[in-house]
Amino acid sequence: MKRRDFVLGLGTMAGAGVAVGVDGWRSHPVHQRPSVALSLPSHDAQPLRELAAQKNLLYGAATQKRFLTSDPIFASYFQRECGVLTPEVELKWKRLRPTPNEFNFNDGDWLANFAAQNQMALRGHTLVWHKGLPPWFATHINALNARDQMLKHIETVVGHFAGRVHSWDVVNEAVFPLHHRRDGLRENPWLQMLGPNYIEMAFQAAAAADPNTLLVYNEVALDFDENDKKRAATLALLQRLKAKKVPIHALGIQGHLRGKTKINAEKLKTFLREVSALGLKIMITELDVTDRAFPRDIDQRDRQVAEIYSEYLSVVLQEPAVNALITWGLSDRYIWLKNEARKDVALPRPLPLDRQMNRKLAWSAIANNLKAAPKR
Ligand code: G3I
Repeated sequence: MKRRDFVLGLGTMAGAGVAVGVDGWRSHPVHQRPSVALSLPSHDAQPLRELAAQKNLLYGAATQKRFLTSDPIFASYFQRECGVLTPEVELKWKRLRPTPNEFNFNDGDWLANFAAQNQMALRGHTLVWHKGLPPWFATHINALNARDQMLKHIETVVGHFAGRVHSWDVVNEAVFPLHHRRDGLRENPWLQMLGPNYIEMAFQAAAAADPNTLLVYNEVALDFDENDKKRAATLALLQRLKAKKVPIHALGIQGHLRGKTKINAEKLKTFLREVSALGLKIMITELDVTDRAFPRDIDQRDRQVAEIYSEYLSVVLQEPAVNALITWGLSDRYIWLKNEARKDVALPRPLPLDRQMNRKLAWSAIANNLKAAPKR
């Protein structure tokens, strides 16, 4: 009996009182089940960053300067748990570019210093995306100047942080099969102004500006059973880029999970292997589990969220090409509510620590799967 099935069995018990695990759980009445591997950790349990480092992996989270500066308690827990920091907003166009001719690196530099002072790797997120753009973008960027503007942005920003960034999300969410293009790409402003080659242009500019950072293509919705077309179109893009010897080093799989959507372990495992076979590393860049579909009861909700973390990580962390795991936030105290809001207005609980900074079952699910992961 794999530990994962224990978790699945118990989790479902917590939900509906009936086991759906494999190997005989069905007949076990709830109260007779042995305790399972997933339990709340002791307060002095090793931090996630140390468990990851023991396997030559990175664990960390996205956060914002305003949380770290206004909340020293949160900052101390972030320092304890995280070996990598992704600026949630500070390295996007909207923050870096207050006007068309101005770059403001103050917040990005503050976060880069915080990461360096706490021996954290710093992620760059993100150079080319169709969101997170400043209000002036639509009126100042057009087909005539888009190439120069995109290259100027990349050269200036990557050059400014050269030597300080572990990996850059060079292009974010460029694939969207529902736009029915043969190449599966999203009809975003960059594609409309520059054509599909904007992607390789961005990677080549980033490589020239900092030859020592990992260059990542970052994508959402690659995780679920239903995402066949997204996985196929993303793999095809990566194959085209590799065939053209574009300097790309990794695929970022965001990993925004939600309760009711099924994970197909075999499909996910196959996709990871196909990406790895291209010579690419894989980073889980934005992992969280939206609990909107789960009951209001906190114990049940936390256990079902932890089940999803464990089910997903029991697949992805077994893939040797996966070198980093970043959750999209560390504590439920700071989440982007728009993404997570619940109809019953209960406060969402998608992350490893609760609002009081206690480690949750989701934390244990991550810890258990880091411990079970092969060393890189
Ligand atoms: O800081 C300002 C605040 O001063 C102002 O009062 C407020 C109201 O306008 O806006 C605040 O800025 C917001 C910012 O988050 C900081 O909280 C922006 O409006 C809001 O658009 C921005 O949203 C971020 C979003 O990306 C767009 O950049 C979310 O925090 C962030 O979690 C989300 O992250 C994305 C990844 O980059 C890509 N993958 C999906 C993921 C989740 O959507």
